[in-house]
Parts: sequence; C-alpha cells; structure tokens
Amino acid sequence: MKVPMIDLQAQMAPIRGELDDAVRAIFDDAAFILGAGVARFESAFASYVGRAFCVGVNSGTSALHLALLAAGVGPGDEVVTTPYTWISTAWAVTYCGARPVFADVDARTGQLDPLRAEAAITPRTKAILPVDLYGHLADLGAFEEIAARHGLALIEDAAQSQGARLRGRPAGSFGLLSCFSFYPSKNLGAAGEAGAVVTDDAALAERIRRLRDHAQEGRHNHVEVGYNYRMEGLQGAVLAVKLRHLDRWNEARRQHAARYDALLADIPDVVAPVVRAGAEPVWHLYPVRVPDRDRVHADLQAREISAAVHYPVPVHLQPAYASQGWIRGACPAAEALARDSLSLPIFPEMTSEQLAFVVTSLADSLRAG
Ligand SMILES: Cc1ncc(COP(=O)(O)O)c(C=O)c1O
Repeated sequence: MKVPMIDLQAQMAPIRGELDDAVRAIFDDAAFILGAGVARFESAFASYVGRAFCVGVNSGTSALHLALLAAGVGPGDEVVTTPYTWISTAWAVTYCGARPVFADVDARTGQLDPLRAEAAITPRTKAILPVDLYGHLADLGAFEEIAARHGLALIEDAAQSQGARLRGRPAGSFGLLSCFSFYPSKNLGAAGEAGAVVTDDAALAERIRRLRDHAQEGRHNHVEVGYNYRMEGLQGAVLAVKLRHLDRWNEARRQHAARYDALLADIPDVVAPVVRAGAEPVWHLYPVRVPDRDRVHADLQAREISAAVHYPVPVHLQPAYASQGWIRGACPAAEALARDSLSLPIFPEMTSEQLAFVVTSLADSLRAG
C-alpha cells in the first residue's frame, strides 16, 4: 500500500466541476493577472480570517517580504524570528536589508519561545516574526504583549495554518500583519504559486497593494521601488473554490491526528506532537519525534510511505546565514528537533487503512532498531 504525504488528485476529484467552471470563467474574461477572480478571493479570505483587508500576491515569500517592508523594516534593523521554519521566513527579513535574529524554540512544540524571543530584543529590533508551525498557532497572545511592551510590529507567518485557531481567534488575525502561503500542498493550496497578506490597517493594505504591482500610483507613476508580486487570476479563482471546502478538509485532518495520537500512545519511543492549551491546530503536518530518525525514515520510504523531514537543518545553520556568525549550539532546542523530527503523512483523503499501515510500519522500524 502506497501512502503519499498528500494526494491532490484525490482532493480535487470531488470538486473538479467547481474548479473547471472557475478556471473557465478566467479564460472567458482573459483576466489572468489580478482582476475579479483575485478580488473575490481577497474579500472571501479577509472575512474567513476576520481581517478588514487581504492583498493577494504571488507567493508566501512575497507576502512576508511586503509585510515586513510595509512595517518599515529596512537596512540596519533586526527582526526576531524562529530558526525552525521553512527558510522563507528568514529570506523575507534579509530581502529588506535587515538581519534575522534567531531565538530558540520551545522544545515541546517547536515554536518560537516568547521568553527567548524577548531576551533577543535589542535597540535595533523592529519586528517579531513568529511562525504558526505545522498548522498550530504560535503563542501569539504572549507575542502581542511583548510587541506592545517594546513598541515592535508583530507579523504572523501563518503560511502553514489556514483555518487554525487559538482561543477562538483564527490564524491570520494576530498582530499588525499576517502572511499566508497557498503553495499547492498547503491546507489551502493554489494550482501554482500564491500567497496573501492580511491586515486591519487600511494604509498598510494600500501600500502592499501598490508594492505588489510595481509601486504604481496611477499608470506609469512609480512612487517607490516596487515588485512584480501580483497574484494570478487563475490562482484567485481556484483558491475561492477551495476555501469553501477548507473547514471540511481541516476537520478530516483533525480526525486523522486524533487517531494517530491514540495509536501512537502504545508505541514506546515515539513522542507525539504537543498541543498548547487553547490551540486548535489544523495539522498541516503531523510531526513525531523518534530515535534514529534517518533510519526510521528510510524504513518507511522502503515501504512506500512518504514521511518527510521538516526541517533537517535549522535556518541559523544554513550556509546562506554562515556569514552572520551563527554557530551550532546557538539554538539547542531547534537543533534537537532537526535531528529527531519526522512528519508522518496526513491529508484529508487519507484512509484509515493507510494511517494504520503508517503506525504499524513505524512500530516495526522502532522494534528492529
Ligand atoms: C512557514 C512558511 N513560511 C513561508 C513560506 C513561503 O511560502 P511560499 O512557498 O508560498 O513562498 C512557507 C511555505 O513554503 C512556509 O511553510
């Protein structure tokens, strides 16, 4: 039995008619860049996350870049963030000419630790950028207080967490600006590259809207250095259709995660993901911690189970950041997670047989070790 990490064909099959109609409408109007398809999605997604404004862009990386620029992050500034994330979180800081300052994560959840983040604040710090890792909201209440106490911008990287909640508040509703990726494998995924920034601040939304389109104010009037970060019409149309199904897909992921939790409780040596009080994750990933992770990973692959490692090298130890003086041991909790975390397959259409096969195979591998 093959178990993929995600099965987009299975996800799209039941809604193929809706998707085809939406795509056809874009072709009928030849509205390929921005246009009504994107505007409709922006307004639906803003309401979904409870924000006044949503600006669609061409990737989550671009969303982060524009959010940081709009928050005033520039050369000489520092942004406190997590080393245990997809590298785009740090890229965006670097693109602004600022320096990402990596504070260690909470060893249990893998998320930026508020105490360590606060200790990393200096007079140069302009913003704090926590990540809602794996579909589980960061400790955003604590980050809101820290940002207010120090007069910093809080920017939420919610790329992995569409639909997740924390004490009833949705991902994307925290801080000054929140950023999403709609990379196809995300819980809400486009048919290509896409992302969005959401905010309640009209002036910031307006600036981001301008920056994504060559910073034009009126045609051929470029008021600052801009970018070509526009969302494509097709992506807006596909995302608007898929948004209608997101809660149902997330609920299926929750049921799979609960079943994993129950079955894994009987296997010694496996540490299941820890959920903070008040959090309602959407299980973009289901990461466990296991001894001898690379051997276990290889054993699962040999059985055609597509487990994956998120992330084998924390960002502070990436060659791209070597010149900034980060050394092994700087963020020990992130480094330990990078050694022993393994993401088990989880996707809405996963069958109970597939899930049971993953658990049995994991137990077999650990017994053999
Ligand atoms: C935490 C996080 N931030 C940012 C991104 C960047 O998004 P994209 O791939 O759409 O540029 C991703 C996803 O890839 C992500 O997982």
